[in-house]
Amino acid sequence: MKDTAPKKVLVIWYSQTGHTERIGRVIGHEWQKAGLGVEMAEYRNLGKTSLSHYDLITIGSPVYYMDVPVNLKQWLTDIPRIDGVPVAAFVTFGGSGDGQHNTACGLLDLMTDKGGIPVGMETFGNMSTFAPTWSLGNEKRILSYKDLPNDTTYSQARRFSADVLKNINSGLSIDVEEAFGMDSLMKIFPQIWFTKLMISSHMIDKETCIKCGICTDKCPVGAIDLEQDIDESRCIACLGCINNCPVNAVKMNFLGKPVYGFNEFLKRNQIKIIEPAV
Ligand SMILES: Cc1cc2nc3c(=O)[nH]c(=O)nc-3n(C[C@H](O)[C@H](O)[C@H](O)COP(=O)(O)O)c2cc1C
Repeated sequence: MKDTAPKKVLVIWYSQTGHTERIGRVIGHEWQKAGLGVEMAEYRNLGKTSLSHYDLITIGSPVYYMDVPVNLKQWLTDIPRIDGVPVAAFVTFGGSGDGQHNTACGLLDLMTDKGGIPVGMETFGNMSTFAPTWSLGNEKRILSYKDLPNDTTYSQARRFSADVLKNINSGLSIDVEEAFGMDSLMKIFPQIWFTKLMISSHMIDKETCIKCGICTDKCPVGAIDLEQDIDESRCIACLGCINNCPVNAVKMNFLGKPVYGFNEFLKRNQIKIIEPAV
């Protein structure tokens, strides 16, 4: 392990609707309180070359289709080597969702492939942002987690940051072992492709669109050009466009029924997500 007394720490995340970012910031703030130099960023805002300069890298991701989102997988495959750098991973997932443990393992595997040393892994449940679930009338399933994240979730994040530091200080690495489950089978038939078959009429309603650019910024694969149609061949069905459009101008059908996004879902159900105490 490069250093058992880390000074310069990086917390990065991929977050389309804020759950993962919120946890990442809690972890980062804890390490700031412990006197470490902490940088926090969405992975897309970070230059690739600087990663080996850190004494600890922690990455957070949502679980998508029981796995690491394909865009993040690609990014982690392309990063330069980080030999000896301690690495930790956390995921946020949709309440009763699937694939959380193996997704965290997947993140760590990608970073250990680059020479990172695994020192921590955690999973955090909250409301799912898979918009077809509520759009097809299954709001109840999502609403049963409407109080998450809560103070217990944030305490869990603080505990995780303390445990990671403890492991590094003691020079301890962790085992990264995937469990066999539904998600293991789904690796043979990735769910994302089934989902893509169920999606139709994915477009931007030009009359409603206010050209704020949020959908183009959120799209991790550059599939959206406001002047043109959405490039379906690039789309990875992350739903970032539909979940974040402030005026519901992004349209999509799932199994023939119109889908509405996470912002709209929160509004309709008068849900305000509990922010962590600073
Ligand atoms: C496209 C998509 C696929 C998802 N697939 C899963 C899944 O397989 N298992 C799960 O537990 N949650 C799943 N979820 C829920 C998200 O993992 C969860 O809501 C996460 O906290 C969102 O993080 P974010 O707000 O940082 O983007 C999915 C959400 C989306 C949008």
